[in-house]
Amino acid sequence: MNLHQRPRRNRKSPAVRAMVRETILTPSDFVYPLFIHDLEENEDITSMPGCRRWSLAGLVKEAGEAHALGIPGVILFPAIDDDFKSSGAEESVNPEGLVPRAVRALKAAHPSLVVITDVALDPYNSDGQDGLVSRGENGALEILNDETVEVLCRQALSHAEAGADMVGPSDMMDGRVGAIRAALDRAGHEQVSILSYTAKYASSYYGPFRGALDSAPKEGDKKSYQMDPANIREAVRELRLDEEEGADMIMVKPAGPYLDVIATLREETSLPLAAYQVSGEYLMIKSASAAGWLDEKAVVLESLLGIKRAGADVILTYFAKEAARELA
Ligand code: PBG
Repeated sequence: MNLHQRPRRNRKSPAVRAMVRETILTPSDFVYPLFIHDLEENEDITSMPGCRRWSLAGLVKEAGEAHALGIPGVILFPAIDDDFKSSGAEESVNPEGLVPRAVRALKAAHPSLVVITDVALDPYNSDGQDGLVSRGENGALEILNDETVEVLCRQALSHAEAGADMVGPSDMMDGRVGAIRAALDRAGHEQVSILSYTAKYASSYYGPFRGALDSAPKEGDKKSYQMDPANIREAVRELRLDEEEGADMIMVKPAGPYLDVIATLREETSLPLAAYQVSGEYLMIKSASAAGWLDEKAVVLESLLGIKRAGADVILTYFAKEAARELA
């Protein structure tokens, strides 16, 4: 054939391929989500094979290993004992609660590690919802917005006081980014960043996570605050609001099934963009690999590369350590 264009020339050797590679994954792209509990022993999580609920000592060690592999940050998710759950989610603002203690332990042991906390009420709420719940006259469940935002502000403050570098509101209440920004600033925490879950979808991929924390809603679902998976223009609307309200970084969640949302928000904003490869995405790869149907290491890296290529600057992934080791 008489071809002027032969794209395969750019793929002819590993060195040429390296030269023209457009997206390069590095450990510094990752944030490692870690589950914690208030017990002395680490505990395997049945709903998420390969993940554990860490004791404070276990957390410090695990985060240290991740940091040594080049991972810049971790995000914490607490499993709260039923005795400490209530309909007012009071434990969420306790300055001596599990998360503030974990933040202090991490910052003392690893000062350069970026410690991010999750701001939402579901682990502390006996209803399992991210916000405070009220019953309408007909008995229907209502998730209160403005009342919840007040609690979220106090929760974010308790994390900031403990030394958190970033707080991550994952609750999807309206106006919470602006309110948390104002509360942090009033208390002198203007250096604490807000990583906003901007486009968090009402996704069935969160199932295993709720098992890990025993935090599933006792009744109903989260569709009156998390976004409809069918919508993308609405994600741009949420982005505009988060930008106005002072978010430092925005997030799309889940990641893999929402690459179009990542790509769109990347075009629409100059803020750093994070994406969360959630528990269900993790388990699809884990379970298929355990059955011998997929090559785990290769598929993990490809899934993360796809999320980065779509436009994510930061990827929250349970595979962070495994992938960082592979990239070393
Ligand atoms: C709760 C929260 C959830 C996740 C992160 N923060 C679950 C939910 O909204 O129900 C899910 C993470 C995952 O599935 O890995 N605010």
